[in-house]
Amino acid sequence: MLRRIGHLGIAVKDLDAAVKIYRDTLGLELAGIEEVAEQKVRVAMFPVGESRLELLASTAPDGPIAKHIEKKGEGIQHVAFVVDDLEKTLAEFKARGVPLIDEKPRIGAGGHRIAFVHPKGTAGILVELTELDHA
Ligand code: CO
Repeated sequence: MLRRIGHLGIAVKDLDAAVKIYRDTLGLELAGIEEVAEQKVRVAMFPVGESRLELLASTAPDGPIAKHIEKKGEGIQHVAFVVDDLEKTLAEFKARGVPLIDEKPRIGAGGHRIAFVHPKGTAGILVELTELDHA
């Protein structure tokens, strides 16, 4: 079961410029910035209530965020839902014919286990599943 939205991932070209907007103009609190080398991305985290925004900037021209921006421009790149049991949810989705990018959990930002659902099965939005959130 999808419990709540853990975070929204927003693809940006310039992380420092985007951080300025979300922190200084919108007034959100920057919780931290971390690099996820495997995803070739730097992530700035802004808690908002029980959820958070993650600004995602590519650290390499061939990274997934760079490719996303090339195809679709800046903007929401993925929605992350918090679930009770990642394996169970993946098995349920698989049984219902949902196309999965990850049939088994991988390690995402913050060292937490995550899995991605293919956007072709979710009306064009990349869906991430997480058990815990780390805002
Ligand atoms: Co995410």
